[in-house]
Amino acid sequence: MTSRALFTTVFLTLLFGVLAAVLFSRDMARAPEIAAGGPSTKASPSTSAIAWPDYSANGLGFQTPARPDGELIAQGYRQVSQTFAEIGPEVADPARRFAGNNLSCQNCHIDGGTNRHALPLVGVFNIYPRFLTRSGRVVSLPERVNQCMTRSMNGRPLPDDSPEMAAFLAYFKFIGGPEAVHAEPAPPPPVPASVERGAVVYADVCALCHKPDGLGVRVGSKGDADGYSFPPLWGPDSFNDGAGMDRFDRAVGFIRHNMPRGVDPAHPQLSLQQAWDVVAYLRAQPRPPGPER
Ligand code: HEC
Ligand code: HEC
Repeated sequence: MTSRALFTTVFLTLLFGVLAAVLFSRDMARAPEIAAGGPSTKASPSTSAIAWPDYSANGLGFQTPARPDGELIAQGYRQVSQTFAEIGPEVADPARRFAGNNLSCQNCHIDGGTNRHALPLVGVFNIYPRFLTRSGRVVSLPERVNQCMTRSMNGRPLPDDSPEMAAFLAYFKFIGGPEAVHAEPAPPPPVPASVERGAVVYADVCALCHKPDGLGVRVGSKGDADGYSFPPLWGPDSFNDGAGMDRFDRAVGFIRHNMPRGVDPAHPQLSLQQAWDVVAYLRAQPRPPGPER
C-alpha cells in the first residue's frame, strides 16, 4: 500500500468512526423516550418551555388556554381533531364545507398532531415558510395546510384570511415548541413490494378495523357529519391520489409505527416487508383523483 493510500484509509476509518459515534449517541438520547412508547408526560420545570404536548388518551388532553386567543386555539384544535364536524362535507353551513371527505386531520396527525411517531404537527409553526422538494419552491404554512386540504382531505383550499385558517395557525403556534421532526423515509423493502402479499396482510391485520371493503366504520350514518371510528383507507370518502399517504415513502413508516392503532412504535407488529406489501395493496385500490400539479 502506498503511503497516500494508507493515509486515505486511516482518514476514512476515523471519519466513519466519528460519524457512527455521533449517530449512536443521538439514538441513545432518544432511547428512553422510545422505550417508554411515546412522549413523556413528566416535563421538568427546566424543560417546560420546550415541553412536547400530549393530547393522547393517556395524556392530560387539550385544555382551552386562559388567554385572549384561547377560543381561537380551541377552535383550531377542534378543526384538527373533528375536521368532519367543523369544515367537513356534511356540515350544515354550505359555506364551511371545505374538506371533501369525512376524515379528520388527526386520523393521520394522531392525537391532535402531538403523537411524535404519527406525522407530528408540533413545531411546524417554527419551520415554515420552507423549501419543499416536491413543490420545488418555498411554501408558506397556510399553503402547506391547503396541500393537505386539497389532497389528504380531498377538498378545497381555505382562504388565507379565513377564520378557519386563522384557527389552524393559532393552534399550530400554541403547540409549536421544539422544531418539527420529520420521520426518515422508510428504508427499501428486502424484496419488491407485492400487491398479492399485501392483500393477505390487509385481510389478516387491517380488515378488522378498516373493514374488508376498506370503507371503514362511520360513527353515525351518512350525512350527520359525525365522522368515523375507523377511517376509510380507499373509496370516495378517502384521501385522493395526490396525498402523501398515497406514497410509499410516507405511508410505509406511518403504518409500520402506528398500525394496528395502539401498536408500540418501538416494536412494530408488521415487518418492513409486510408494511411495503400492504401499502402496495392500498395503492392498488380506487380513490379520488388528486388536483393537477
Ligand atoms: C390521510 C392522511 C392525512 C390527513 C387526513 C391530513 N394530513 Fe397533513 N400530512 C400528511 C402527510 C403524509 C404529510 C407529510 C409529512 C412529512 O412530510 O413528513 C402531511 C403534512 C402536513 C403538514 C406539514 C408538516 C411538516 O412537518 O412539514 C401540515 C401543516 C399538515 N399536514 C396539516 C394538515 C391539516 C391541517 C390537516 C387537516 C385539515 C391534515 N394535514 C390532514 C397526511 C395527512
Ligand atoms: C385496532 C384497529 C385498527 C387496525 C387493526 C388498523 N387500524 Fe389503521 N387506523 C385505526 C384508527 C382508529 C385510525 C385513526 C387514528 C386516529 O384517529 O387516532 C387509523 C388510521 C389509519 C390510516 C390513516 C387514516 C386514513 O384513513 O387513511 C391508515 C393509512 C391506516 N390506518 C392504515 C392501516 C393499515 C394498513 C392497517 C393494517 C396493517 C391498519 N390501519 C390497521 C385503527 C386501526
